[in-house]
Amino acid sequence: MVEELVPRTPSRPGCAASLSVVRAAAGRGPVSLAEVDLSTARPSPTGIDELDRVLGGGLVPGSVTLLGGEPGVGKSTLLLQVLRAAAERGVRALLVCAEESPRQVRLRAERIGTMPETLFLLADTDVSAVPPAVEELRAALVVVDSVQAVHDGTVAGAAGSVAQVRASAEALMSMAKATEVPVVLVGHVTKDGTLAGPRLLEHMVDTVLTVEGDRHHTLRSVRAVKHRFGPAGELGLFEMGDGGLASVADPYRLLLGDRRPGQPGSTVLTAVEGRRPLLVEVQALVVDSIAGTYGPRRQAQGVDNGRLSLLLAVLERRAGLHFARSDVFASVVGGIRLSEPAADLAVAVALASAALERPVAPDLVVFGEVGLGGEVRRVPDAPRRLGEAARLGFRRALVPVGSGDAPPGMELVTVSDVGQVLARALAS
Ligand code: TYD
Ligand code: MG
Repeated sequence: MVEELVPRTPSRPGCAASLSVVRAAAGRGPVSLAEVDLSTARPSPTGIDELDRVLGGGLVPGSVTLLGGEPGVGKSTLLLQVLRAAAERGVRALLVCAEESPRQVRLRAERIGTMPETLFLLADTDVSAVPPAVEELRAALVVVDSVQAVHDGTVAGAAGSVAQVRASAEALMSMAKATEVPVVLVGHVTKDGTLAGPRLLEHMVDTVLTVEGDRHHTLRSVRAVKHRFGPAGELGLFEMGDGGLASVADPYRLLLGDRRPGQPGSTVLTAVEGRRPLLVEVQALVVDSIAGTYGPRRQAQGVDNGRLSLLLAVLERRAGLHFARSDVFASVVGGIRLSEPAADLAVAVALASAALERPVAPDLVVFGEVGLGGEVRRVPDAPRRLGEAARLGFRRALVPVGSGDAPPGMELVTVSDVGQVLARALAS
């Protein structure tokens, strides 16, 4: 008779994968942090410039990345390009397509370019088929499209259910950690823009990327929402064209190309997304409201609706502007979505400019946070914001007090209160 130890199953299934990973990595007992081997944790470039910028260099061996985005935004296209770029370097790359037929994938690939020999396809929805295929091919990069479409036979429930998504993701994570192969999972998003399936998925994976973009525009942005191996919040820009997604290093043709300087309601803002300063145009339109059952309309695109209401209230109270009988629209050009409070002042200037029909000087950029008391607050990265604006030929900047020195050729107009904006930013 031989004694055999049966491992106890952890009571919280969600921790199973990560616990086993930690155990495998740690070996036996505590080790000195200084002695932990870093050699495998270095990212290797995907070869797609803007994606590598977002990832802080590339994909880390054994990491699991979740790529989310609305249907049709370009997730499958981007990942096919990643696989193709890897295969062209001689890396054996595997696409697990659980949603589309091999024919559909082939058709998409034809649009993108030539087909390298080392790009493989596994058309299967059973997650247990993936590890053997990876082993057989000696694949060094795996994409699963999508995590909602694969299923784990040992778990009850239909594909896409919470239990199935979790089990499938766990199986793929264990494979990634065991083989050191980076795995990218496609994740669907729900109507409100959050990733479908259990929130747990976001906790489990190493990196969460989202692809955003307006279907009617060609600009697409990829953002790292969570990133264990580098900075989160970094933004990559792409343009969707005939040959798939192309990296956009200089986005201003798309962002500022159609601007009409001197148009009331238009302002240029210097946003910072991750480490990238980005000039974007904010537009506002204020028109008489047709009295109806629902009261005046407030509609924002690219700006949070709640933030818009807040800024309207602040302008009403602190700058003496009246919006109660007006419909108000605000939008960010190019399908960009602004999330940082530094956009406040530019939105406020656009609203004031639209309400008073007084244009903003065409060579003026704006940034700053606005508080409920009407105070204009400092925001991070002022030098980088000013530098980028100066590089693009803007000569004046409307900024919070204490934003540092102006770059050569630029004049700073400082404000400490939204009330001052009317006099300092708008032509009379
Ligand atoms: P897709 O990558 O399938 O989106 P997702 O996987 O996120 O659902 O396709 C996105 C859209 O891009 C689709 O409507 C077709 C379009 N497209 C192009 O414009 N050019 C191209 O080269 C390719 C491959 C797709
Ligand atoms: Mg797809």
